[in-house]
Amino acid sequence: MKICLLGCGGFIGSHLVEWLIENSDVEIVGTDISDDKIRHLLDEPRFTYHHSDLRVDKAFTEQLVREADVLVDLVAVASPKKYVDDPLGVFDLDFMENLRIVELCTETKTRLIQFSTCEVYGQTWLSLVPDGVIPDDVRETLDVSMNEDDTPLIVGPTDKSRWIYSVSKQMLDRIIHASGEHRGLDYTIVRPFNFVGPRFDFLPSTRNNDPSPRAVAQFMDALLQGTELKLVDGGSALRCYTDIDDAVEALGRILLDRKGVTFQETINIGNPRNEISVEGLANLMRDIYAEEYWDGESKLSDIVSVHHEEFFGRGYQDCDRRVPNVDKARRLLDWEPVHDLEYLIRKTMQAFVDDLESTEGTTLARSTSAPLAPATV
Ligand code: UGA
Repeated sequence: MKICLLGCGGFIGSHLVEWLIENSDVEIVGTDISDDKIRHLLDEPRFTYHHSDLRVDKAFTEQLVREADVLVDLVAVASPKKYVDDPLGVFDLDFMENLRIVELCTETKTRLIQFSTCEVYGQTWLSLVPDGVIPDDVRETLDVSMNEDDTPLIVGPTDKSRWIYSVSKQMLDRIIHASGEHRGLDYTIVRPFNFVGPRFDFLPSTRNNDPSPRAVAQFMDALLQGTELKLVDGGSALRCYTDIDDAVEALGRILLDRKGVTFQETINIGNPRNEISVEGLANLMRDIYAEEYWDGESKLSDIVSVHHEEFFGRGYQDCDRRVPNVDKARRLLDWEPVHDLEYLIRKTMQAFVDDLESTEGTTLARSTSAPLAPATV
């Protein structure tokens, strides 16, 4: 079997290639515009990497799709800052370019594993109910989890460009579904819910303070720099974080699905037990930083609240809460996420420190890096 991953050099792609090398005998071909996160894999005999941009090397991409048994499409901009700053660029890559891949897979009868996003669900139905209408104690008991085949997709108005990513991905999901129904496309759509782990995004200060990384990378950078951790609108939004190792265990089973149990299915991958507010995340990361890395003398970062327009720009709106319903993944893949929040945040922070130390040749206050004991739920 030959599996081709477009976007194999990103955070998820790099872990998937690693997983496939360790857990299968398939031939792996991958493309990306950077190999920074997969350098350690380039000499693997069953993995062939091509430095290639699907927006430019169209004929080459087409040839790869034609030669593959399974095509995994991971190519996307997934940074809220970019949805607001460059909505047309996001639409072009995340919809237009991806649409071409869907059409190619349909034409060539190649199995397509398309990476969608939890952001497709948008905001919860409960966020539309004004405060005070439902008593707080009842509100807390209501189910707002997101289910692939029932949950409505709720987004804000068009002048809020944050939603261009959600809607681009939603439209692509709909076209894939229709291509399955009417043209027999063999597909599986995957919806990741906030995966984190080693090689997640990057520290903004290592790339001229590029503002695009997501919260976990922003907070880690602020802690390392002794600057403020900025909570957008007080950090009341909630996220469920998923360990990348748990995630690839599910993703790998989808890629190697020889029985067809994931045929024409949309599947959430996430950990509903790892929910935390953004404020809680900032505090957790500062506590871990103080315990593991702080020299005890330099300034420990403050946590402050900033208005979303100041941080992201006028086109921003937030997803209030994102709890995955993973019953389908459990049922089809015989899978269960096991790593708890504190474990995966510690592991991700340690990976940032390791990367920084190896690039800069420096050592942070903490002199020994004791192996982490996996905490499971
Ligand atoms: C992002 C993408 O938009 C999703 O499509 C993707 O699926 C998801 O990441 C993911 O990792 O799976 P989001 O969780 O909103 O979604 O991304 P973040 O930028 O990390 O924002 C999380 C929360 O933290 C938001 O409430 C945001 O306002 C807040 N935030 C972010 C801060 O308070 N401070 C920061 O410095 C950065």
